[in-house]
Amino acid sequence: MKIFIADNAGFCFGVRRAFNITEKELQKKSGNIYSLGQLVHNQDVVKSFGNKGLKPINALNETDGGKVIVRSHGIPKSKEAEIRNANLDLVDCTCPDVKSVHKKVAKYHEEGYNIIIIGDSIHPEVVGINGWCDNKAFIVNTIEDADQLPNMDKMCIVSQTTNTQEKFDTLSNVIKTKGQDVQIFNTICQATTDRQNSAKEIAKKVDAMIVIGGHNSSNTSKLYEISKKYCQTVYHIERITELSLQELSKFNTIGITAGASTPDWIIKEAIEEMSNHNNNNEMIEAIENSFVRIQRNDIVKGEVIFVTDEEVMVNINYKSDGIIEQNELAKDPDLKPKDLYKEGDEIEVYVINIDDGEGNVVLSTKRVEEFKKWEELEESFETEEILEAEILRVVKGGLIAIVEGVNGFMPASHISVNYVSNLDKFKDKTLRVRILDIDKQKRRMILSRKIVEQEELEEKREKLWESLEIDETIEGVVRRLTDFGAFVDLGGVDGLIHISDLSWHRVKHPSDVVSPNDKVEVKVLDFDKDKNRISLGLKQTIEEPWTVFKDNAEIGDIVEGTVVNLLDFGAFIRLEEGVDGLLHVSQISQDHVNQPSDVLNTGDKVSVKIIDIDEDEKRISLSMKAIEEDKEETKKENLQNDNNFETGANETEEDESDNDITIQDMIEDN
Ligand code: F3S
Repeated sequence: MKIFIADNAGFCFGVRRAFNITEKELQKKSGNIYSLGQLVHNQDVVKSFGNKGLKPINALNETDGGKVIVRSHGIPKSKEAEIRNANLDLVDCTCPDVKSVHKKVAKYHEEGYNIIIIGDSIHPEVVGINGWCDNKAFIVNTIEDADQLPNMDKMCIVSQTTNTQEKFDTLSNVIKTKGQDVQIFNTICQATTDRQNSAKEIAKKVDAMIVIGGHNSSNTSKLYEISKKYCQTVYHIERITELSLQELSKFNTIGITAGASTPDWIIKEAIEEMSNHNNNNEMIEAIENSFVRIQRNDIVKGEVIFVTDEEVMVNINYKSDGIIEQNELAKDPDLKPKDLYKEGDEIEVYVINIDDGEGNVVLSTKRVEEFKKWEELEESFETEEILEAEILRVVKGGLIAIVEGVNGFMPASHISVNYVSNLDKFKDKTLRVRILDIDKQKRRMILSRKIVEQEELEEKREKLWESLEIDETIEGVVRRLTDFGAFVDLGGVDGLIHISDLSWHRVKHPSDVVSPNDKVEVKVLDFDKDKNRISLGLKQTIEEPWTVFKDNAEIGDIVEGTVVNLLDFGAFIRLEEGVDGLLHVSQISQDHVNQPSDVLNTGDKVSVKIIDIDEDEKRISLSMKAIEEDKEETKKENLQNDNNFETGANETEEDESDNDITIQDMIEDN
């Protein structure tokens, strides 16, 4: 019996990543760790993680603090918020390929497109994707579903990542006839396509196919369907124990493939069981040749077999040995192979090429560290980690920076949230950045400091909104003026001082009171976070002049003032900045005054008597006539007193004239 093992069988990149992250989290032993749903569609893996402390849950109310692992299928946006609101730490293992579908769907939904997901409506991945367009997607899984779709103007079609190409093509061809502006994204992941193609090729040439994977795993079921098309006998199993090995021995050729959630050890177990049963040399050879599966860019462990002056030969447990040429050994070209390694050394190597044309695998030790750095950076990209970048130089369109020993490019548009005209000022500076995009294979990394700034600003804004209190006095900087007020930056959020709240006295234009970049203390009058509106008051930070005046003045007081306005019915006298009183025409003089301008001019300084204060209306009535009357009264009293003491006989005309107070006197006195 000959056995063929399909390439790309077993864990896909996304599941392996989720598996590794979960392992690391469990090793930390830092409290409860839950997985929202089963981490992978494989009972043995679930059981093994369960023994290490991972608790699968269906709902958040089953938790008691700790971390929640989001599996590679991803979850709706609202669920992420629920986890955070429940004070749980979210460990996001969503496959980057699925994540990019989320982003696509969110973007097109926001732009008014109807989202169509080709997939199974109850599959967690599809449920998750739908949650990034407010659960408004049309989910199409059959031709009938596609036929029933209404006609639409704008349409964005995506696929469940594990669909078959055939299904996607068939359904998208029907769906697109229903729309005017149709955007089609084939979001089937490459790992799925590769696995399905390999399964198809093997199924074509064997007598029986064994598909290993969870019975509830969508991608394994699809492998079964594909295999069934090309091979008459196909078994879908989770473990080899489900099969009668006796029955298998009747086939000359057997093909094996496995779903994305099937770990290597389950595939190995299946092969070994079959091997033991048949004691078949060909099968053993198949195991030896196929168990260690390598591909370009892998880092694998090996043992040095021998070292020559030009190269190092390494056993990497692959069907062929690997060679490291001298120029791939170390960065220092003067180091010789024998300076570095000896027979029996265990080393890590990077796979440059599977076959050098003579059947050897081409390896490098020089690239291991660099590749690991790229892998770490890729991890930082996925986890959105903030990194430090040292700016090396300015180039056309941006900056070259070094992050953890690897060079990256920061486009000018991503240097800051503010416009940057002079890039030179960043040279030799260390900036906090996030990786915007990374391509490990092409050794390309794009950085952004703007995203970090935006997040910090957002955080600052959130804090500010949370801390705002009505009547609180806070500091800000005047940013811009308009005819109706001044906008003040309170630290990421702008508030408005309406022109009427700038000063207690009348203001023609905000520039009469403040200028851009002025630092000001303002009072919070009102705010509405939903409408992003904050009303501020500048005048409210000082006591109203009216209040100060009224607390210190009384009816009968004689006060000084300046004529500021002359009208037919009277004159307005400014007693303090912001406090004007009315001198009615009838109160200007004992003599008849036709109109105020006959005896007063704007700008005249006058003495006036307060004859009334109306606190409700904030009005002050003034009189000059009352002062004249008071003086006459005083004069009369003095005369009376003089007569009483018979001392008035010698009173001169000059004395009398001293007591004759005129309006002119009252003005000139001032
Ligand atoms: Fe991701 Fe594709 Fe696997 S979408 S989880 S790599 S099947």
